[in-house]
Amino acid sequence: MILRKLYRHVTLIVRCSRGYLFIVTFLIFALVYSTFFRQNKNEPLLKKEKSPTISINSTAKNVISKSELHVQLLRAKVERLALKVKSRSIIFNTKSLFKPNYNVHIFYYAWYGNIEIDGYYKHWNHSYLPNWKQDERVYPVGSHTPILDIGSNFYPSLGCYSSRDPTVIQVHMKQLREAGIGVIVVSWSPPNYADSPSSMLPLLFRYAKLYELRIALHIEPYFNRNPINLLQHLRTFLIQYGKHAALYKLKRDDRDLPVFYVYDSYLTPANSWREILSRDGVLSVRGGEMDVIFIGLLVDIQHRYHIKKSHFDGFYTYFAANSFSYGSTWKNWKSLAKFANQNRLIFIPSVGPGYEDTQVRPWNAKNIRHRREGQYYDVAWRTAINCNVRYISITSFNEWHEGTQIEPAIPKRTASFTYVDYEPNGSHFYLNLTKWWNEQFSKTLLKY
Ligand SMILES: *[C@@H]1O[C@H](CO)[C@@H](O)[C@H](O)[C@H]1NC(C)=O
Ligand SMILES: *[C@@H]1O[C@H](CO)[C@@H](O)[C@H](O)[C@H]1NC(C)=O
Ligand SMILES: *[C@@H]1O[C@H](CO)[C@@H](O)[C@H](O)[C@H]1NC(C)=O
Ligand SMILES: *[C@@H]1O[C@H](CO)[C@@H](O)[C@H](O)[C@H]1NC(C)=O
Repeated sequence: MILRKLYRHVTLIVRCSRGYLFIVTFLIFALVYSTFFRQNKNEPLLKKEKSPTISINSTAKNVISKSELHVQLLRAKVERLALKVKSRSIIFNTKSLFKPNYNVHIFYYAWYGNIEIDGYYKHWNHSYLPNWKQDERVYPVGSHTPILDIGSNFYPSLGCYSSRDPTVIQVHMKQLREAGIGVIVVSWSPPNYADSPSSMLPLLFRYAKLYELRIALHIEPYFNRNPINLLQHLRTFLIQYGKHAALYKLKRDDRDLPVFYVYDSYLTPANSWREILSRDGVLSVRGGEMDVIFIGLLVDIQHRYHIKKSHFDGFYTYFAANSFSYGSTWKNWKSLAKFANQNRLIFIPSVGPGYEDTQVRPWNAKNIRHRREGQYYDVAWRTAINCNVRYISITSFNEWHEGTQIEPAIPKRTASFTYVDYEPNGSHFYLNLTKWWNEQFSKTLLKY
């Protein structure tokens, strides 16, 4: 089209022979135009969305910081998007014993400890993390001092619990079961590594089975992680749990295979993953005893090629903060779903209720995503469901440091700090809301 038009213009100009200068000027213009046109065509994904209109009172006395402005813009956007989400019934059905939906997965952390059970606090006494960017402001340092001061913007209903407490594990399983969530994706490092859940796994598996739930692992980037030592560690894990009724498995080519989410999978070059995940890799696990389903993490747009080249079975997006990364940006999910379909990959978008981590990253206010009484979560779920995906992951059940948890939280106030809470909707609100969305999602799954 463009070329033909260009040709016509050029011949016209030449015919008119209004001089050399005209042609040169025109060619330069055409070159600039076509370059611009080509760029737009290749990268529609990077197009900026129109900013929502919000009114900001910017009298001199009332100066809004950049991060505050950012948060306000995002808030206005969520409100605007929430209007498009069909109104949901606000009376939750608490009676129906909903069957677990094994297509809904939730990230679970078993790294909390307290004095009563473990002899010392773990994670509730999280330290303030240093800023990775230079910034002239002064931020708190040191660690939090439980019980009143914890490394979270929210305060758990169960208090500073221990992840190894059987009562706590049972309460969690019951809550997950009632929300109809089928798969718990346990944050995992091998035995003897920091935050390894190995000693909790026997209990987690036992109770998961009791509540008809399944367990998958979320492999953390433990020290020196590489595909070879990872396979060795997984071999040990599978010797112990490979035949357990509560181990989550997915069918591929008529075989039921265990599922592993690999956090920050892009840290390892695709060529290395390829050696174990491709059928013709030197150390290929495909078709053998150790065959597994690996779900890689997609952060940036280029990671699509990393996922493909590595021969992962699928990918997830993890981060609950919309627009924090390419993968965690809701409006990119449609195109990621398309990419997944074209390449026969499983796309598992991660939905979350909000994000707030300033009790551990005090400099990170710009990434706060307010929950807006569930509106933020609504938009995430609706977007994921509209992409016709078969699996959805939830970030998170209990990542309290980043404020992405749906676990019950209570209002709490100390002399120096007021925790965020779920009021006026109540401590169990996000469990109930998850159940509601889970039911909507289940209906769409019947199509398959
Ligand atoms: C803007 O802020 C000033 C000072 O805080 C206040 O007096 C004024 O009423 C505000 N205007 C609007 C439109 O909110
Ligand atoms: C949450 O509470 C607010 C304020 O009372 C109410 O408007 C909203 O409908 C509640 N949300 C749900 C889903 O019940
Ligand atoms: C939410 O669910 C809990 C049980 O998980 C129930 O006790 C509570 O009444 C529910 N809240 C609403 C508003 O339905
Ligand atoms: C939390 O407390 C335990 C026990 O006192 C200690 O080993 C750990 O280093 C503390 N964590 C932080 C981040 O201070």
